[in-house]
Amino acid sequence: MTHARKVILDCDPGHDDALAILLAAGNPAIDLLAITTVGGNQTAAKVARNALAVSGIAGLSVPVSAGCQRPMIRELSVAPEIHGDTGLDGPPLPEPRGELDPRHSVDLLIETVMAHEPGEVAIVATGPLSNLALAVRKEPRLTEWVSEVVLMGGSYSRGNWTPAAEFNIWVDAEAAEMVFSAGWQKLTEVGLDVTHQALATPEVRERIRGIGSELSRYVDELLDYFTLSNADHQGFEFPPVHDPVCVAALIDPSVIGTREAFVGVETRGRWTYGMTVTDFDGQLGEAPNAQVAVSLDHGRFWDLVIEGIAALPR
Ligand code: BDR
Ligand code: CA
Repeated sequence: MTHARKVILDCDPGHDDALAILLAAGNPAIDLLAITTVGGNQTAAKVARNALAVSGIAGLSVPVSAGCQRPMIRELSVAPEIHGDTGLDGPPLPEPRGELDPRHSVDLLIETVMAHEPGEVAIVATGPLSNLALAVRKEPRLTEWVSEVVLMGGSYSRGNWTPAAEFNIWVDAEAAEMVFSAGWQKLTEVGLDVTHQALATPEVRERIRGIGSELSRYVDELLDYFTLSNADHQGFEFPPVHDPVCVAALIDPSVIGTREAFVGVETRGRWTYGMTVTDFDGQLGEAPNAQVAVSLDHGRFWDLVIEGIAALPR
């Protein structure tokens, strides 16, 4: 096997973020170095606590820290409609083991990347991009040092929080614009176009229950809640499990198909704040800045997630 990919996961757990943590913990192709968190699905304090609790049940012993409490310009908007008051509603919240790392997530992220060789560490971002935007302003060498950013956010076809905008981008569009325009070695955008295909279907749910572990029961109950909240507020029969697609794509790039494009983030539109304007055809005359996910191998994606859960000790 090739060397495991060193990864920092910047997230806002969040049901699907929790599954991203479990996949990163359960697959040997990922060497998770740190979990940083950002206000998004719930407040910064709640999502940091959730990340610590999930890392505990995943058997991880990596630093977990709290990050930006609010976006660059706007007030924080959270998503209790989808993730509940705790950010991880459904099964009883596991008690976090250990303590949060005392560093702010922006500093933990920078220090972790810079402690490695250039090109060694990838960043997976599955929440609003506030931490990553501040980090790249504080330490501009991150764009050379980070091998790849894979982020869940945006879409070229539709929104989910407004008609035009996806939640993670809409929460902090100014940060998203800073991240998309930063000039990374590689930036992969995994948007709703593909994550809306990452559905936890009854067959998938059956396979998760079939693992028969304490952890699989916890995941099953998380997905019960996520199914109902996505049905009530987003009109889905089966919920789209967005965030682990980014981790799966790092483990096995064939999980997604991509096309190169320039992606601009709308920060001024009257109806379109947070829209990711995606120029596949070079009409805007801008250099491409992203590999945009355009297809998903649903079977391979869920195989990885299910194998990851099954590989974890609990
Ligand atoms: C994104 O928004 C959050 O609610 C999810 O965790 C995911 O990262 C989907 O729009
Ligand atoms: Ca998320």
